[in-house]
Amino acid sequence: MRRQQQSVAVLVTLYVVVVVLALGGRIQQVESHKDQPLSGIAIHETTFHLNDKAHVKASPTLLGSNGQHSEFVLVEFTSPHPSDDDWIGVFSPADFNASTCPGDNKMVSLPRLCSAPIKFQYANFSNPRYSNTGTGSLNLQLINQRSDFSFALFSGGLLNPKLVAVSNKVAFENPNAPVYPRLALGKEWDTMTVTWTSGYGLKIAEPVVEWGVKGGERKLSPAGTLTFARNTMCGAPARTVGWRDPGYIHTAFLKELWPNAKYTYRVGHRLTNDAFVWSKEYQFKSTPFPGQNSLQQVVIFGDMGKAEVDGTNEYNDFQRASLNTTKQLIKDLKKTDAVFHIGDICYANGYLSQWDQFTAQIEPIASTVPYMIASGNHERDWPDSGSFYQGLDSGGECGVPAETMFYVPAQNRAKFWYSSDYGMFRFCVADTEHDWREGTEQYKFIEQCLASVDRKTQPWLIFLAHRVLGYSSTSFYAEEGSFGEPMGRDSLQKLWQKYKVDIAIYGHAHNYERTCPVYQSVCTSDEKTNYKGTFNGTIHIVAGGAGAGLAEFSDLQPNWSIVRDYDYGFLKLTAANYSNLLFEYKKSSDGTVHDSFKISRDYRDVLACAVDSCPATTLAS
Ligand SMILES: *[C@@H]1O[C@H](CO)[C@@H](O)[C@H](O)[C@H]1NC(C)=O
Ligand SMILES: *[C@@H]1O[C@H](CO)[C@@H](O)[C@H](O)[C@H]1NC(C)=O
Ligand SMILES: *[C@@H]1O[C@H](CO)[C@@H](O)[C@H](O)[C@H]1NC(C)=O
Ligand SMILES: *[C@@H]1O[C@H](CO)[C@@H](O)[C@H](O)[C@H]1NC(C)=O
Ligand SMILES: *[C@@H]1O[C@H](CO)[C@@H](O)[C@H](O)[C@H]1NC(C)=O
Ligand SMILES: *[C@@H]1O[C@H](CO)[C@@H](O)[C@H](O)[C@H]1NC(C)=O
Ligand SMILES: [Fe+2]
Repeated sequence: MRRQQQSVAVLVTLYVVVVVLALGGRIQQVESHKDQPLSGIAIHETTFHLNDKAHVKASPTLLGSNGQHSEFVLVEFTSPHPSDDDWIGVFSPADFNASTCPGDNKMVSLPRLCSAPIKFQYANFSNPRYSNTGTGSLNLQLINQRSDFSFALFSGGLLNPKLVAVSNKVAFENPNAPVYPRLALGKEWDTMTVTWTSGYGLKIAEPVVEWGVKGGERKLSPAGTLTFARNTMCGAPARTVGWRDPGYIHTAFLKELWPNAKYTYRVGHRLTNDAFVWSKEYQFKSTPFPGQNSLQQVVIFGDMGKAEVDGTNEYNDFQRASLNTTKQLIKDLKKTDAVFHIGDICYANGYLSQWDQFTAQIEPIASTVPYMIASGNHERDWPDSGSFYQGLDSGGECGVPAETMFYVPAQNRAKFWYSSDYGMFRFCVADTEHDWREGTEQYKFIEQCLASVDRKTQPWLIFLAHRVLGYSSTSFYAEEGSFGEPMGRDSLQKLWQKYKVDIAIYGHAHNYERTCPVYQSVCTSDEKTNYKGTFNGTIHIVAGGAGAGLAEFSDLQPNWSIVRDYDYGFLKLTAANYSNLLFEYKKSSDGTVHDSFKISRDYRDVLACAVDSCPATTLAS
């Protein structure tokens, strides 16, 4: 009873905090982590009702004996008092009971549980008659996440969990194995970086990459090792029930690559006895020289998230479509050179187990082409943590997992802005979770990035950011009256115009929208599909529909909004040469092209004056 009162008090306090933030901050999106299925479980309220007549059994007990890092486990269970709100939680490490709670965990009073499951499912999922028969089974996919697993049967639903029975343990043969390599472009065009996760700390092994031109000689390159501790998290749940040891994150720099060459690699560890543990073999194509004229194909989207193929964690189905997007990206991988995922990466929202699961989901893509990320509100935002917005959207992560799990070629990965060249493309990636306004450090970076590109050979200048700094008619932006992030285009319009940015792309609004070439809210061209020569404005694209629950458009459709699609999809930009670019928006459901346009333009068109973009001239002759 007393405990209940306490938790009511905590809830009321939280609610007050949220309301205060909502009223105090001008920005929407302060509700915390409702998008994260695991946040629906009040795990810290668990009480113990272990029952000898209830059983949970998981098989096989040894996983990955053929070197695989993902396997299905059959979980069979019986309960003497079954009910439709019984559920199975998967825990990892397998010893998840209260005795493993850290002392400083204020959310938890013993003997309650202090770690959330890494996934869950209702006990009646495969047997609708479970509540009569009391027997059921689930086929659950586990990935290698460095620890063993156990499966627990709960009654009392998600909000009032009563622990009834715990299974035997299951484990991968080598829980420490190097897994989920992800490539990213380095700071130099001829460097590819590969980042992976393992359970091997520096004291027990040395991280290495073995690599070389396909079919050629191979060499070993060292990797650096990072990790982060619970006390780097800014708040709950990341610091409390959502915390899970992230293991070790290794990054190697493969340097002096030949342009456009096929390389093979594997990541691994040299143990203290000089034996090696290796991942499987992967391959990638190196980057073209900046300005190199060759076919270049880049995929861009935001807000994909993750989902589980076994149907777990789906109480709100928020990111189900991410599986479709992932599937389409894999299908088109041979015709993809690089991927930009511009923020809201996996919506872990403070449940750290989700980062491993996300890197496993994208492994076929990220191990083969550079997977470049930008920072979003769900990675970064937390009150008083230096984020521009004071929302709770990161679930207490305050950027640490994103900045560690993925490499980006930024000066400082905590300030997530960077420039990246891919052949004829120059990408200027902004960080909307830090101030971008005139006079800031980031503004200087953006100007420098836009100004320093030679458009003769890198004509395709693309601005990327998570929140819509340009134009969107999504209802939450329309209601605010700004049709975009307040102060976004006020600050940046000048730069896009001056440096003739062709295309600016955003996520955050979960849908697809394309503007006309626009400057100061006025269309500078009536053309819709075939742009030629100078177009005097920037085409703004929202591509936030890669997987997370869709966002509705406003009934108002401003003139500049020329195509809208309330559906899941992603973008592909294909540069054929210096003067031809193809833009496509594809549906995640089947990969078909739903919207497209072309830009045909010569260098002299970039040099030509456009509105407000001409440097002042002198009368001297
Ligand atoms: C299974 O349990 C869930 C959660 O309590 C419930 O919503 C659903 O209706 C149940 N399914 C069946 C077939 O009874
Ligand atoms: C709780 O965890 C401890 C330490 O891991 C273990 O010794 C103990 O048996 C566990 N208790 C239960 C009830 O599972
Ligand atoms: C937008 O469209 C409306 C009606 O179609 C028109 O009256 C108005 O002048 C247009 N505004 C601009 C800025 O093009
Ligand atoms: C550039 O690519 C386009 C589209 O493939 C093609 O039609 C055009 O001829 C190419 N131009 C040059 C100069 O190669
Ligand atoms: C995924 O794609 C299939 C068609 O391939 C479609 O039927 C389904 O609705 C899509 N799922 C989501 C969540 O959009
Ligand atoms: C772009 O702006 C320039 C300068 O104002 C003007 O001369 C030109 O006609 C415009 N081009 C288009 C396609 O509107
Ligand atoms: Fe977002």
